[in-house]
Amino acid sequence: MTSEEEKKPNFVAGFLARDLADGAMALGHVDGEDVVLARSGDEFFAVGANCTHYHGTLSQGLVVGETLRCPLHHACFSLRTGEALRAPTFDPIPRWRVERVEDKVFVREKLAGAGRKSLTASAAGQRVPSSVVIVGGGAAGLAAADMLRREGYDGPLTMISADDWPPYDRPNLSKDYLEGKAPDEWMQLRLPDFYREQNIDLVLNSRVSVLDIQRKSVQLEGGQTYGYEALLLATGAEPVRLQIEGANDAQVHYLRTFADARAIVAKAASAMRAVIVGASFIGLEVAASLRTLGLAVDVVARDKQPLERVMGKDVGLMIRGLHEAHGVVFHLGETVRKIEGPTVTLTSGATLEADFVVLGVAVRPAVTLAEQAGLAVDRGVVVNEYLETSVLGVFAAGDIARWPDPHSGEKIRVEHWVVAERQGQVAAKNILGYRERFDAIPFFWSQHYDLAINYVGHAERWDSVEIDGDLKARNCAVSYKRGGRTLAVATISRDLRSLEAESLMESGKL
Ligand SMILES: Cc1cc2nc3c(=O)[nH]c(=O)nc-3n(C[C@H](O)[C@H](O)[C@H](O)COP(=O)(O)OP(=O)(O)OC[C@H]3O[C@@H](n4cnc5c(N)ncnc54)[C@H](O)[C@@H]3O)c2cc1C
Ligand code: FES
Repeated sequence: MTSEEEKKPNFVAGFLARDLADGAMALGHVDGEDVVLARSGDEFFAVGANCTHYHGTLSQGLVVGETLRCPLHHACFSLRTGEALRAPTFDPIPRWRVERVEDKVFVREKLAGAGRKSLTASAAGQRVPSSVVIVGGGAAGLAAADMLRREGYDGPLTMISADDWPPYDRPNLSKDYLEGKAPDEWMQLRLPDFYREQNIDLVLNSRVSVLDIQRKSVQLEGGQTYGYEALLLATGAEPVRLQIEGANDAQVHYLRTFADARAIVAKAASAMRAVIVGASFIGLEVAASLRTLGLAVDVVARDKQPLERVMGKDVGLMIRGLHEAHGVVFHLGETVRKIEGPTVTLTSGATLEADFVVLGVAVRPAVTLAEQAGLAVDRGVVVNEYLETSVLGVFAAGDIARWPDPHSGEKIRVEHWVVAERQGQVAAKNILGYRERFDAIPFFWSQHYDLAINYVGHAERWDSVEIDGDLKARNCAVSYKRGGRTLAVATISRDLRSLEAESLMESGKL
């Protein structure tokens, strides 16, 4: 046992109840396993100490009612059942029986997992669809398929994906994967056994080209059709392709899919210099990963400061400084005019040398199917609070969905991993008739070198920015406000504050 472990209380021997206030947690151990003891009101719960997403330290998270939130990417677990109630993880944490004897709380034996729910006992009395088709094998699609099975739906379930890989960790493409720190096999969100065991018909390499609302069917480019009673559209977004004079396909890369990432990794292996066009989150994450690999990196962007539109001038300046300190050279307020061999010419006439170029300017929602089928589309597929489109029985989730966000009071569409997964989960429940509103607070994170930014809420426009802490020291919370109301909070090195802001927004107190 290490000296750290020796300091942790052994919960088997009992823990004084009065030492744990309502909403507080203690980290200890039981039979060699790290365990969190948490208090909610007068009840005590003992659960595993590590998040099942990327091993976040749950004792540094937040207890909200009977839930425990992970500090890293805000996964939400039930303290009572251990279930992963909200993405980004789908897997439960272990739990133990807790017994209170006088002034002490004792952690007893480990309990069995909660198991699959019974649909007949839980669905809202509505007829369960005879078949479900999900178009899209990304964040929203997989989360929906997983939730349908978890909730006990055992009818035919087909997930059709244009991608040639089973659902994978897309955010990692620009981070650890690009840096060579995550091997291919880590990237899959679920191993092949999962689809077999859950009886999910995963149809890869197949693009749906027609959605026939009358016949309730979708048709693949190859002609095969699939009938459905309930449908989820989760087709995500596609990079905006730029026509650049002289650019040839082999030299210009986009980053959306695993195949895109593999192509960049292969190029980077023998390259010396890269030019990134666009100072978006993805563009900058690619810049950071390529610098870490030792390539010289130039970033060309129309913006005055990177990320200024999303995070404001001060944070933009800080991020720029961080990248410059790592050797990235910015060319702001301009774009690429032409590419001739290794020479990239900018609109100012300046030239850069590059072995390859990554275009990360913007993405647009993949709404063609929905448009052709006559669903309401307005810069995204329009859905109601239950994530149902203008056609009954057809739901949409993820990057394509524009939903009524109760917090901002606006209809918004975002491109965040956790939002896509959570929407997939809520859409799945509504396919089963639960009528659950999607009211989660939008959340995203971004990683640049060793700096992680967490962002909760949604602010497209704001009239004041308040910085609590020290932006230069990279330890702060930045609040974006309009009319005195906080719309969003970005944090750096303050994960707990991010969780607190999320919880306050949920309860309407912020
Ligand atoms: C490199 C990169 C890094 C990112 N990093 C972060 C991050 O750090 N944090 C964050 O919050 N977000 C991040 N994002 C954004 C996040 O990945 C997206 O918001 C999320 O993937 C959206 O999920 P989705 O299910 O809507 O779409 P996707 O995950 O894109 O899945 C869409 C699926 O639909 C399929 N499809 C599309 N059209 C059809 C069709 N006609 N027929 C069949 N299948 C079709 C596609 O093949 C794909 O399988 C990142 C994105 C990228 C590309
Ligand atoms: S590590 Fe817990 S949510 Fe990612």
